[in-house]
Amino acid sequence: MKRTLGVCYYPEHWPQDQWADDAARMATTGLTWVRIGEFAWTRMEAVPGTLTWDWLDRAIDVLGNAGLRVVLGTPTATPPRWMLDKYPDMLPVDAQGRPRKFGSRRHYDFSHPGYRDECRRIAGLMGERYGTNPHVAAWQIDNEYDCHDTTLSYSAAARRGFQDWLAQKYQSPYALNRAWGNVFWSMDYDSFDQIDLPNLTVTEPNHPHQLAFRRYSSDQVVAFNKVQADELRRHTQAPLIHNYMGRITTFDHWKVGADLDIASWDSYPIGFLSDRIEGTPKEKLKFLRQGHADNQAFHHDLYRAVGRGRMWVMEQQPGPVNWAPYNPAPLPGMARLWAWEAFAHGAETVCYFRWRQTPFAQEQMHAGLLRPDSAAAPALAEAAQVAAEIDQMPDVGTAPAQAALIFDYESAWAWDVQPQGADFDMFRLAFAAYRALRRAGLNIDILPPDTADLAGYKLVLAPGIMALSDPLRAALARFDGIALIGPRTDTKTIELAIPVPLGPDLPDTDITVALTESMPPDAKIKLQGGGAFRHWFEHLEGTAPVHMTTTSGQPAIMGGDSLRYLAGWPDDATFDMIIGGLCDSLDVPTYRLPDGLRIRETPTHRFVFNYAPKAQKWNGTKIPAAGVHWEPL
Ligand code: GAL
Repeated sequence: MKRTLGVCYYPEHWPQDQWADDAARMATTGLTWVRIGEFAWTRMEAVPGTLTWDWLDRAIDVLGNAGLRVVLGTPTATPPRWMLDKYPDMLPVDAQGRPRKFGSRRHYDFSHPGYRDECRRIAGLMGERYGTNPHVAAWQIDNEYDCHDTTLSYSAAARRGFQDWLAQKYQSPYALNRAWGNVFWSMDYDSFDQIDLPNLTVTEPNHPHQLAFRRYSSDQVVAFNKVQADELRRHTQAPLIHNYMGRITTFDHWKVGADLDIASWDSYPIGFLSDRIEGTPKEKLKFLRQGHADNQAFHHDLYRAVGRGRMWVMEQQPGPVNWAPYNPAPLPGMARLWAWEAFAHGAETVCYFRWRQTPFAQEQMHAGLLRPDSAAAPALAEAAQVAAEIDQMPDVGTAPAQAALIFDYESAWAWDVQPQGADFDMFRLAFAAYRALRRAGLNIDILPPDTADLAGYKLVLAPGIMALSDPLRAALARFDGIALIGPRTDTKTIELAIPVPLGPDLPDTDITVALTESMPPDAKIKLQGGGAFRHWFEHLEGTAPVHMTTTSGQPAIMGGDSLRYLAGWPDDATFDMIIGGLCDSLDVPTYRLPDGLRIRETPTHRFVFNYAPKAQKWNGTKIPAAGVHWEPL
């Protein structure tokens, strides 16, 4: 399949006589897709029940007649002001019990049944009108679930929904009391309607109570999305997509993804570096204009799996954004590099956000492919270059990966609820493991926690999975490569209690986590032969062979030939040493990549990306900063 480019466009922001020029210019730039509509509810329905489609009909025609394919968004992330008169209680409520106000976006509560019906209605009306329109070739449902922290809402609707959800799950309050351990501090309930949301308690609420609320809240995102997906499917054969975000773990993307055809995500490498990625000030300065060298790849690999092989970048940063603490411009070449990197990781399409920088409203300082005066912004020429290169390149396919990383959203909630160490965070741990695999130059697949088959992989990592699922446990038992699980894996029940006998429960492998320590960032547990654990260390017991120890002789890695347990959180250099050693023993070739250089293999090519701020050498070839190099395999 030929890869394609696209752009996000807001016809409702511009005079209609500008649309045809815009469309023609998109087409000559080499763009294929244009995403529209996702915030335009007031333009579709300014007055409840009075639908105004003529402008959208025209916009779709103009864009389609220029040869572009439209991704049509449902506008449910921006309910019109009149919706609040109808449903004053539909606003999300923060953990302090304060409703969040109208005046920006995402001002809705996932649990609110009235608003959910309104979303079904507008999705149905749009589906009816455009479901078979030849120009509408894909749909986006809503926009960025959880953006602005909107998954968790402590509203009256959520409270009612939570009580119902608990009643269905536990059947009796006594079963719930037992499962949650409510005898502790006399927290027992006599009926489900006594159970409140876990906020504003005197000290921390019981962990399973919090975890149940996280599960409930995630289920609401899944249900909210499914209402629209089901409605649209009655009217269209076109693929349904949602645009996920970077480093969001508050809802189970595997479950939302199961109801959609393609997983897309919004990639803002420089915004994320400043806002969402840990790193020393020195590292952040080095990648100031490029973004973190592994962050995009992690999310491409994650969402490729969430989309069961079909992944897009729905929004690609083109220049400075407006929302991070600091907003530098990308190095020349990065808007091209990010697109090629996405393709090499399996993206079918990369859409830049947005076509023209808007001179008004909240995002007026956010760059586009055009400036507000319609002159070309720097990324326009880079987009055109990528489009021309796609034409010359043979197809870019997805090659099998040697390594797999298991990623579990429920565990992310569990460790949010019970971090035990201030800096223990599931994304951070998984990302540390991922980065080590990537620094070794491996292709990586990210897999869901109920994965039942690991055949084909050589190396599997499963850090921080609170309770192994039965299918995964069975797959690990059959696996013939090396699986390194831990730290903190299979150390809890699904109710976030400590299992007795103590975990992990590993097939034919006698290992027990006897005691757990968390440590402040600068403390180290040194390892025999060099390296150290940080943040987290588990004291292991058992009869399984010990493969690595701390300097004081405690097990650091224990297990059989195939299934091993990692007792701590290795720092980067130690992770490299561990992964390097495992790859050597598996005869998997690794690379010593120069600083900032990253590679990804497709079935036909090796792609090399230079994230470093200066030129780097690869096999004798000099790759400039922000350079992309590909060579046939
Ligand atoms: C995304 C969002 C877009 C726009 C963009 C700005 O989070 O989906 O609507 O706000 O960020 O970078």
